[in-house]
Amino acid sequence: MAYENIVVETRGKVGLVTLHRPKAMNALNSELIAELTKALDTFDADEKIGCVVITGSEKAFAAGADIKEMSSLTYVDAYKDDFISTWDRVARNRKPVIAAVAGYALGGGCELAMMCDIIIAAENAKFGQPEITLGVMPGAGGTQRLTRFVGKSKAMEMCLTGRMMTAEEAESSGLVSRVLPLDEMLDDALATAAKIADFSLPAVMMTKEAVNRAYETTLAEGTRFERRLFHSLFGTEDQKEGMQAFVEKRSPQFRNR
Ligand code: CAA
Repeated sequence: MAYENIVVETRGKVGLVTLHRPKAMNALNSELIAELTKALDTFDADEKIGCVVITGSEKAFAAGADIKEMSSLTYVDAYKDDFISTWDRVARNRKPVIAAVAGYALGGGCELAMMCDIIIAAENAKFGQPEITLGVMPGAGGTQRLTRFVGKSKAMEMCLTGRMMTAEEAESSGLVSRVLPLDEMLDDALATAAKIADFSLPAVMMTKEAVNRAYETTLAEGTRFERRLFHSLFGTEDQKEGMQAFVEKRSPQFRNR
């Protein structure tokens, strides 16, 4: 598949997807989402890849769903095609995904970032759910994920007024893990991804699964789930190697990475 709306590269064990619709602030149209899905499928199936980074341009990570594409959509079309349901592919990626966000992450752009496992932001990043200003509401998880990240009051305010959040506010309220100068942000996200990709892949994937379970279940069920995964890692050669390397004061040579 030739990509027209994204650029797909590999940097060592890291898969890098750059959203690339410069004339439309990386608005997410159906073609772009299909290409992103294909790229993620390819990276998830590629044994050499251990982590994925999704980024945009310096101006915009993504300014939301493509308003021009969806403006004439009818209720029947939206319902029949289950409009936007395919975006969830990002949240279902089995290997970790880092969103490296500079500029606008609005509407579906903010929702796309929140489907990733870690959000690293540049100082110029702006997050928001402005759908209310268009006569609609968030439709790709914004009301649910933003509320889990920043709490009810701030999520409610952002979704009901469309107010944008600066990178600084996003960091202090728990939406992003780190804020960096614009010219350092992508390198930092790639270095973070490379570090993750260097660990044992089963341990990385199970850790991701367990952290995500925290959003879906009770504390008792979540800790039980975590413990079962933890037990299963004792069946991997990487556990033996990782612990033996610690005892022998050397770097581990993980086989599954
Ligand atoms: N869809 C389609 N085109 C978009 C777009 C979008 N979401 N966002 C920007 N563009 C286009 C503009 O129409 C413009 O195109 P033209 O040059 O052909 O006019 C081009 O990108 C550049 O945009 P601006 O001239 O507006 O740039 P700016 O710097 O003045 O403003 C902005 C940037 C604040 C991001 C502004 O473009 C904006 O507010 N965009 C819309 C943001 C928005 O409402 N997003 C939510 C979409 S709905 C949604 O996402 C639903 C969901 O939950 C999934």
